[in-house]
Amino acid sequence: MGGRLSSACVAFWGVGVTLLALGCEKPSDGTSSSAASKNTGGEKLKLGFIVKQPEEPWFQLEWKFADQAAAELGFELIKIGAPDGEKVLAAIDNLASLQAKGFVICTPDVRLGPGIVAAAKRHKLKMIAVDDQFVGADGGFMTDVHYLGISAGKIGRSVGESLLEQMNARGWPAEETAACVVTYEELDTARERTDGAAAALTEGGFNANRIFKAPVRTTDIPGAIDATNIVLTQNGDVKRWIVCGMNDNAVLGAVRAMETRGLAADAVIGIGINGTDCIDEFRKPTPTGFYASVLLTPRKHGYETVKMLYDWVIDGKEPPLDTRTTGIMINRENYEQVLKEQGITD
Ligand code: GLA
Repeated sequence: MGGRLSSACVAFWGVGVTLLALGCEKPSDGTSSSAASKNTGGEKLKLGFIVKQPEEPWFQLEWKFADQAAAELGFELIKIGAPDGEKVLAAIDNLASLQAKGFVICTPDVRLGPGIVAAAKRHKLKMIAVDDQFVGADGGFMTDVHYLGISAGKIGRSVGESLLEQMNARGWPAEETAACVVTYEELDTARERTDGAAAALTEGGFNANRIFKAPVRTTDIPGAIDATNIVLTQNGDVKRWIVCGMNDNAVLGAVRAMETRGLAADAVIGIGINGTDCIDEFRKPTPTGFYASVLLTPRKHGYETVKMLYDWVIDGKEPPLDTRTTGIMINRENYEQVLKEQGITD
């Protein structure tokens, strides 16, 4: 069998290069496209949507809503997962070679901003940054790049306020309770969220000395588990924890780490952000320490961003430079209804 295969390879060796050039090329990771119905000047308009973490439900929902816009407005959406800078630049080149006219992007690293802007300009592609705002060489936000993201500080504050409310409602003594804040301070929207939560806690009377930061190295559940384990090891005497982080995964990781040490729903109140990555958690028959989440607006981040791009490309209508979105607190009691109302579940 092995011999037959290798002789076939040898037979094709001479034309191997031609075969590759004729389309045996593998499409880049995570790339797919949806059919479109409307033609633009005889050619179907193509727009890209690049995301940093395609495995995260948040980004899958952004894509789902962007697909809806593509179907309704009649363009082809090219979705690309790009977890690092090299993949982002390859994705932009790929979009240009497919003759796309623009793209929406949540970059894996905000400091890639200047490079992404240069690549988009070189290929004459219009671009909107979503979720994570680009940072320039001087360390400041690139406010001349069109951006749609959340009101991070405000949403973070609402998490801190709700944590205090819940802690008080349960009558947890202050001296037995500490706060675990899962941080990722390299990313501004993440830092603004956790800073907002911590500020609301201290302003509400929570002892600042009992707020412990758990900085993550990776923004996924395992990353948050590792970071939280360190905080738990250093604070073995704490009986009850309130938990926040940049998103649902950060809080889910902390809740998992706490469960491993026997700290369950009666000793942990976790409140996430996104509201999209915690749906399975709420569906569990027994409540866990993951109490609630701020449901953001993935429809706005997915549908509206590509619609803005579409209007810009087709009608020359430039979108606002800065658009901010808000959220709604969901928990086990109301999530089903709110998700339905928001068009996230059927
Ligand atoms: C960042 C986070 C995502 C989500 C978005 C919302 O990109 O990584 O999980 O919270 O912000 O804008």
